[in-house]
Amino acid sequence: MKVEPASSLQGGLAVPGDKSISHRAVLIGAIADGTSVIDGFGRSADTESTIAAVRALGVDVGEGDDSVRVEGVGLRGLAEPVAPIDCGNAGTLARLLAGILVGQVGKRFELVGDESLSRRPMARIAEPLAAMGAVVETTDGHLPLRIEARSLRGLRYELPVASAQVKSCVLLAGLYADGPTAVAEPVATRDHTERMLRAAGARVRARPGLVELSPVSRLEPLRVTVPSDFSSAAPFIVAATLLPGSRLRLTRVGVNPTRTGLLSVLERMGARISLFNRTSSGGEPVADVEVEHADLVATEVGPEEVPAMIDELPLFALAASMARGESAVRGAAELRHKESDRIETVTDALRALGVRIRGRADGFTVRGVPARPRGGAMDSGGDHRLAMVGAVAGLVSREGVRIVGAEAVSVSFPGFYELLDSVTQR
Ligand code: S3P
Repeated sequence: MKVEPASSLQGGLAVPGDKSISHRAVLIGAIADGTSVIDGFGRSADTESTIAAVRALGVDVGEGDDSVRVEGVGLRGLAEPVAPIDCGNAGTLARLLAGILVGQVGKRFELVGDESLSRRPMARIAEPLAAMGAVVETTDGHLPLRIEARSLRGLRYELPVASAQVKSCVLLAGLYADGPTAVAEPVATRDHTERMLRAAGARVRARPGLVELSPVSRLEPLRVTVPSDFSSAAPFIVAATLLPGSRLRLTRVGVNPTRTGLLSVLERMGARISLFNRTSSGGEPVADVEVEHADLVATEVGPEEVPAMIDELPLFALAASMARGESAVRGAAELRHKESDRIETVTDALRALGVRIRGRADGFTVRGVPARPRGGAMDSGGDHRLAMVGAVAGLVSREGVRIVGAEAVSVSFPGFYELLDSVTQR
């Protein structure tokens, strides 16, 4: 796929429903008592994996265009599947589902995934789940993961890394425990699980650095409208910021503060981004986002800012390449454990396009110049977020960008290139 240079982005659009929230709605809906209705469902390869997984566990799921109906079987009603459950490329599915499966007392399960997911760390969930009393066996710290569900004890767990997936896994297991479960986190991570469990009637108390949950006897079915995915809006926000004369409006974007770190960082760099029509939907804050072009200056992103922009750091690298001065990201070693090693893939990709970027153990530094990068060819490494960075780089480049592995976008955002094209002025 070749993305040609653009002059600006203009108009309005809505990106698909939030992937993190869509996964959670299907998983929590599956163990609620009764029918959950999820509107604005973010359809993608990842969320299709979640639907297939709960179906394999005996849950009936009905699908309309962007609406999904989940016939919840109750907390302990999931069936032992005949074959291993395939989590595809989806880390959120593998880690959150494990927290639910450990509660299905007396049953056994096996989780597998694609090549990329099979390289990602799973000891980080196996350890706390085992401490709660489950029998969880990884394959050298990775998938395949085998679970034998037993009665669980409540746990007070200190997350060794800031990870919403690990936090959510422990909280979901805590629904089944014999007493309260608490998770302490070094820096706040996305709190969609906590919000959705509250909407389903669970008692979840959160104060800075600590989330506590009491076990439940049942969950209420959900009625949610999923906001647009901030992480899918982000490539549009960065492209409109970088292209002179741009003016773009994105409607009904999820603006949960645990997700929108990129906005604060871009604003500090001089970006012109405004939020309008703030409302809430299914316990999540939503707003329209308007972006105009702005010249940027370099900035430094530290460890306390990383979780709220973890999936946007590759895009930040591109924005930084056109910001005057040297930018840096520190405390982001977690990037090495995503769908690709994103410190490697983003530095390789951007360097191939003429950007002066250097990787370091826990982040990268970028020497920015307020001019279009040359362009050329880059490899997504099969990582959807990298393919999207390549597309934005193509628009803002002098010569365009050829993306190897462009089809990876379907993991989170099928239709991405078409939607980008619909607001692009050449
Ligand atoms: C996610 C949490 C983040 C993020 C991922 C989705 C979630 O991962 O990178 O894309 O839905 O909870 P970690 O929790 O492992 O940092």
